[in-house]
Amino acid sequence: MIKVQNLNKIYKSLHALKDVNLHVKQGELFAYLGPNGAGKSTTIRILTGLTQPTSGSVSLNGFDLKESSIKSRQQCGLVPQSINLDQELSVYENMTIHGLLFRMDRAERDKKIDELLSYVDLSQRCKSLVKELSGGMKRRLMIARALMHSPSVLFLDEPTVGLDAGMRRKIWALIKKIQQQGTTIFLTTHYIEEAEFLADRVAFLDTGTILVIDTPSNLMAKLGSWALDRLIDDKMEPIYFYDRDEANSYIASHKESFTLRRVNLEDAFLAMTGKKVK
Ligand SMILES: Nc1ncnc2c1ncn2[C@@H]1O[C@H](COP(=O)(O)OP(=O)(O)OP(=O)(O)O)[C@@H](O)[C@H]1O
Ligand SMILES: [Mg+2]
Repeated sequence: MIKVQNLNKIYKSLHALKDVNLHVKQGELFAYLGPNGAGKSTTIRILTGLTQPTSGSVSLNGFDLKESSIKSRQQCGLVPQSINLDQELSVYENMTIHGLLFRMDRAERDKKIDELLSYVDLSQRCKSLVKELSGGMKRRLMIARALMHSPSVLFLDEPTVGLDAGMRRKIWALIKKIQQQGTTIFLTTHYIEEAEFLADRVAFLDTGTILVIDTPSNLMAKLGSWALDRLIDDKMEPIYFYDRDEANSYIASHKESFTLRRVNLEDAFLAMTGKKVK
């Protein structure tokens, strides 16, 4: 469970987070969605104790980040946005270092490494150097490493950035599996379909402010079920309909060319911010 109250972060003259309030429930998969520079990584860095907030409070599973910083950090696992594995060491060694940091003894470490590498489908690469792995394998290893100390809250900062569609889906399946084991997941992304597919609830973040928090289906339903894309000048301007027949009669009575499709989460973000997430 994650509770965030009136969180602010000011970097010199930049107000990067403005009065952020969040309550992520135990076992929930919460997606934090926003364009570049919105403040997603800053939020994750504060929630995992890597950056100090300017003001506000954070608690993880009831442990206040300021008052019980060790306890609250033990609750969480972090997969950062940039790959920070030790490239010259093997998969096994990278996992071992993390286990040592959390003071796991050898038997416990080795058991967990075996279990997690099999979980992320990397058992065959246990002895490989990290620099020999593909991008998708490195991301999976970062997820396995973050799970070494069995955290109850997992923070994933853009876990599929730069991966092809097939590998992205493989990681989605892995994230779902981790949630099904009871882990609370806080995920940032600017892949809108990732949030739509994975999240129980989504927050839209724009220039440090949370605009709305709701389920993907509620956010989409506010607009309609169907979107007609039409080109106006050089911009796509969708028109929304609740009823497919209504959309079809609109097409029949207008001479322009349209594309009919389902409303998606990008529409909801665009309607609220006037900009695309990506
Ligand atoms: N250490 C820092 N010092 C000064 N400004 C910073 C620092 N870290 C981030 N910022 C600024 O704070 C804002 C939010 O950055 P942040 O990295 O949290 O965004 P983000 O939503 O994660 O973006 P992206 O999608 O590009 O990863 C940006 O304007 C960024 O330039
Ligand atoms: Mg970021």
